[in-house]
Amino acid sequence: MKNLKTHSYKIKRIDFEKRNKHRGIAIWLVGLSGSGKSTLANGLHAKLFENGLQSVVLDGDNTRLGINKDLGFSDEDRNENIRRVAEISKLFIETGHIVINAFISPFEINRIEAKKIISDKDFVEVYINSSITTCENRDVKGLYKKARSGEIKDFTGVSSPFEKPINPDISIDTENLSIEESIDYVFHELKSKL
Ligand code: ADX
Repeated sequence: MKNLKTHSYKIKRIDFEKRNKHRGIAIWLVGLSGSGKSTLANGLHAKLFENGLQSVVLDGDNTRLGINKDLGFSDEDRNENIRRVAEISKLFIETGHIVINAFISPFEINRIEAKKIISDKDFVEVYINSSITTCENRDVKGLYKKARSGEIKDFTGVSSPFEKPINPDISIDTENLSIEESIDYVFHELKSKL
């Protein structure tokens, strides 16, 4: 990038963190469509709010209707999708927020890239471990049916790959945990990182 210099602001990350009484951090929820990422994000957001913690949710369905509305589901577009939201997360972290990201983030390289943008110490990878069979049986949005019939192309888990996280910081077994239990579990695990 030419002729650009980073501005330094008077109020720094440490000032926000002191006022908030917790660190800024990104929680990255990884999982198939219909695995429960948005539900968990919503519940966790509420739990953090009730406990007086500053958080914000970035969710694929929402950001793809706004800032990322020019992106589709090719590998290249998914990489760009994740790159942009990782950069947005970084801005929120700089103001002391706990950023809850809910994106399929299907490729290991996406997650590595996001972690690199945000930094290792501020990145918590949470795998929402729900099998394709479970997600497809639920088919809350009717998208798996459309993917199977070919109406939707490049659908994750059907006609586009999903690479399971190799070594997530937290793994949620949605087949055996209720939503409430999952929220409590992530909240509990997070506390030590804040
Ligand atoms: S990601 O792969 O780039 O991380 P993202 O989380 O932003 O995906 O968006 C996924 C959401 O878009 C899904 O929950 C689903 O509602 C919708 N969607 C539409 N088409 C597809 C597709 N081809 N593959 C996956 N999700 C899709």
